[in-house]
Amino acid sequence: MTDEQRFSGKTAFLTGVASGLGRATAMQLAREGASVFGVDVDADGLNATRAAITDAGGACETRVVDVRSRDACHDAVAAAVSEFGGLHIVGNIAGVARSHHFTDVTEADYDLIMGVNMAGMFWVSQAAMPHLLESHGTLINIASNAGLMGQAYTVPYCTSKGAVVQFTKSLAMEYVKSDVRINALAPGGMKTALVDGFNMPADLDFSLMQNYMGYRDMAEAEEVASVFAFLASDAASAVHGSIWSADGGLTAS
Ligand SMILES: NC(=O)c1ccc[n+]([C@@H]2O[C@H](COP(=O)([O-])OP(=O)(O)OC[C@H]3O[C@@H](n4cnc5c(N)ncnc54)[C@H](O)[C@@H]3O)[C@@H](O)[C@H]2O)c1
Repeated sequence: MTDEQRFSGKTAFLTGVASGLGRATAMQLAREGASVFGVDVDADGLNATRAAITDAGGACETRVVDVRSRDACHDAVAAAVSEFGGLHIVGNIAGVARSHHFTDVTEADYDLIMGVNMAGMFWVSQAAMPHLLESHGTLINIASNAGLMGQAYTVPYCTSKGAVVQFTKSLAMEYVKSDVRINALAPGGMKTALVDGFNMPADLDFSLMQNYMGYRDMAEAEEVASVFAFLASDAASAVHGSIWSADGGLTAS
């Protein structure tokens, strides 16, 4: 099956493209004709993503950006617009997850998780919105099943993803009379580095986790990237303000 070219002539600004879902999304959009401006804190991962895209004939620029910084996010969005002459698709994909007993969470843990998962998308979206209004573009925020259900041992992560859900809905309402489409994509488990680095507490009560272990295999990042691409495409023209689950039924129960 060959890819369509749904994004020819369009520019995508994506965070978290050094790995996992961000890389898979960058590669999918680029295969379908988008020029991708990707940011991440991981310089080596960024280089690998850019090489994979350009070696395949696609267009990709990257920049090392810590999305916790408002100034860095605004500068990066401006650089993308200057590089490619506009902005049509914005994907807030960067994220971190840690597992703790609630009482073990440090201020540094809390600031990291809220800073990357929530503040980062706040500042990127703020910088991008004038350009999306101009291009009638689309904004997609990566939430999680963890933003839709309570999960033990991941309170800061769930808090950040719940904030992503509410951020997406409130932004969708503020811009409901514009042509910009604003949605969240809520994956369940995906086989990425984020899951590998979870480090659950050794003495956890496993029975508390059964509700969110799921019934199907974890998704490959590419399976979720294809849902991102659908949401970013004109085929999803009716979708605005939604929290679109791609979790194998996890939140259906
Ligand atoms: N993997 C899962 O099971 C799962 C489930 C639901 C939601 N998600 C969400 O999917 C998104 C992508 O995660 P993934 O699973 O691909 O993990 P991943 O670890 O493979 O990718 C996350 C990327 O974010 C980048 N990042 C971290 N801190 C950053 C910062 N301060 N500034 C810029 N970039 C930063 C990392 O370097 C990495 O490249 C995240 O928002 C995550 O919360 C993941």
